[in-house]
Amino acid sequence: MTEISIYEVGPRDGLQNENIPLDTNEKISFINLLSETGLKFIESGAFVSPKWVPAMADSNIVLTKIKRKEDIMYPVLTPNIKGLDDALKYNADTACVFTTPSESFSKKNTNCSVNEALARAREVTKEALLKGMKVRGYISTVMFCPYENEIEPLKVAKLAEELVKMGCYEISLGDTIGSGTPLKTKQMIKACKEAVGIEKLAIHFHDTYGQALANILASLELDIKVIDTSVGGLGGCPYAPGAKGNVATEDVLFMLNGMGVSTGVDLDKICDASKFVFSKLGRTPSSRVYSAIEAKNNRN
Ligand code: HMG
Ligand code: MG
Repeated sequence: MTEISIYEVGPRDGLQNENIPLDTNEKISFINLLSETGLKFIESGAFVSPKWVPAMADSNIVLTKIKRKEDIMYPVLTPNIKGLDDALKYNADTACVFTTPSESFSKKNTNCSVNEALARAREVTKEALLKGMKVRGYISTVMFCPYENEIEPLKVAKLAEELVKMGCYEISLGDTIGSGTPLKTKQMIKACKEAVGIEKLAIHFHDTYGQALANILASLELDIKVIDTSVGGLGGCPYAPGAKGNVATEDVLFMLNGMGVSTGVDLDKICDASKFVFSKLGRTPSSRVYSAIEAKNNRN
């Protein structure tokens, strides 16, 4: 049976864009619930500027108080050395550096040019590896940029190559505004696969235009083995106006279960975590699978 890793980004990408941030204790309970689902990767916070992303300002308390399990990684975003120092102080196991091929997105998201972001990523990665952490590299706007429109696949592949060279164990390819379609997805993944090999790649698709599952299926056909998801479809980037949440963990699990692909993640327990976090946010999950399971349970 094929195996796919699910990398849950709900507590970070999912919550970073909330206008009324979730209470810190509720975040901790949310992550603890996720730790019981079989997930092996739960991105749990971001050591970014609280002026830029206020909803992540309590990542230090979150990392201190969650009940960590030995076989689960709890990565955090670290845009610069200040972020890495905090990540080390609060015993994060994985640092995530982030880049983009788009000069405009780089400026909006991290207040620096693409080359400056790469230089920061290099500095953070070097130091994190020295301190025994793993480093994951993100590339945003891999197909379209909210400010520069279409992105050339070779530009993404070049960045992926740079991030692997500096020591990132995996590169997560972000369709930040969720406007990619399967053909474009395949062109982008093929270029990156040629540059760094498929085993170094993960996909991170937002679902703004409802294309994420189709794009994931297209990526699976190219042997992608790691998929970033977010319970209930939580998420969005504050610097990508209009972008909706990540593809819902429930929707991806339901599709993979139907394909006989093993993930080790329990769909019912994910629905419980989804119910918990959305009840605290006062909304219903956008996941179609969540709604269908909930309706079925209510009928029985
Ligand atoms: P800056 O304002 O240019 O930073 O921000 P600076 O170096 O000029 O410092 C200014 C102040 O910020 C100083 O404080 C620093 O100490 C402080 P002051 O002296 O004024 O009191 N500062 C920090 N504080 C806490 N943590 C830090 C930090 N660094 C500086 N790490 C910076 C530059 C990169 C920090 C800022 O632009 C930032 O935090 N950006 C992050 C934006 C972000 O988190 N975006 C969302 C995540 S990315 C995403 O969602 C995409 C992804 O999901 C993939 C996809 O979907 O495509 C990953
Ligand atoms: Mg994202």
